[in-house]
Amino acid sequence: MALELTTAGESHGPALVAIVSGLPAGLVLDKAAIDSDLARRQQGYGRSPRQKLEQDEVEVLAGLRHGRTLGTPLALVVRNRDHKNWTWGMSPWPPEGEAQGKGTKPVTLPRPGHADLAGSLKYGLADARDALERASARQTAITVAVGAVAKALLREIGIELEGSVVEMGDVDAAKADRDTVGGIVEVRARGVPPGLGSYATKDDRLDARLAAEVMGIQAVKGVEVGAGFALAGQRGSEAHDEIFRDERGLHRETNHAGGIEAGVSNGEEIVVRAAMKPLPTLMKPLASVDLATGEAGTALVERSDVAAVEALAVVAEAAVAWELAVAAKEKFGGDAVGDFVAAHRSYCERIEWH
Ligand SMILES: Cc1cc2nc3c(=O)[nH]c(=O)nc-3n(C[C@H](O)[C@H](O)[C@H](O)COP(=O)(O)O)c2cc1C
Repeated sequence: MALELTTAGESHGPALVAIVSGLPAGLVLDKAAIDSDLARRQQGYGRSPRQKLEQDEVEVLAGLRHGRTLGTPLALVVRNRDHKNWTWGMSPWPPEGEAQGKGTKPVTLPRPGHADLAGSLKYGLADARDALERASARQTAITVAVGAVAKALLREIGIELEGSVVEMGDVDAAKADRDTVGGIVEVRARGVPPGLGSYATKDDRLDARLAAEVMGIQAVKGVEVGAGFALAGQRGSEAHDEIFRDERGLHRETNHAGGIEAGVSNGEEIVVRAAMKPLPTLMKPLASVDLATGEAGTALVERSDVAAVEALAVVAEAAVAWELAVAAKEKFGGDAVGDFVAAHRSYCERIEWH
């Protein structure tokens, strides 16, 4: 059974939810490990005070018993603690009583760079909050919880991941100017055997799948695998990773390909980089137009991060983990985690990969 994911949840609604199906039975999950990744996502330079308020924690509603997966759909929940300030504004049902708390006034001044204008036009909304609540990167909390589950599965076959910041704008200066910055993050995955993904169709290609997964994260505007864009300026003789064989088996001395050739993992470290744009909510707002009146104005100002590059490193790590777990489950299958591990072992023996 293929690994599949469905998520739902608004930024200031009651909770974010995910249903993960296709996990093998008997996978040990550790609540502390999932919560620790959720905490990593909330840290970092330039984050808004909301991160202190939230202190995310995972809850499991189904699919787990005594810390082991049952082989049935796993239902995860991360509650939005801030919802208590939005119970009227984000009430799922028509709210009763007088308007109170946050989210009571319609958002009609769309922020350039956010979902406000595109969402209002596409869905015919009078209040852009109906768009921005789902488009918000608060959603990445559940991505990270799911990523922690994916990492537990990958660890069973010796795959480890690490996300880090490569480059980030000057947060202090941007904050003083009431502006925002972006940056670049990198995810490395070690222990990925050759053979995940396929060149058979574009949907099978591991590089395309990882790029889609990472580009799917809010504010990511560029993704590269290995040397990526730099390869365009190199000669073939410097760009491609020569093949050697010694007591370690087949291996490369360089990894410009970032661990993927022809859409298939080649046994080297997988390296994916993502470029994040500066965040769209500015304390010194940009020009906008009031969609209710047609008058010129300035964009919505709402509590917001100055930068979220360190958080993106954690989210991108989770996104890459998810897609590698999907590809690994596709290749090794297994209703029980032991079957999955045994299939991996026998395949690695056949290709003499260790
Ligand atoms: C971890 C993370 C945190 C973010 N925090 C904010 C934020 O506080 N304010 C903001 O305007 N955008 C934030 N964003 C970016 C917006 O969610 C994103 O720019 C918006 O949804 C529009 O989507 P797009 O940039 O992919 O086009 C964040 C993105 C990430 C990955």
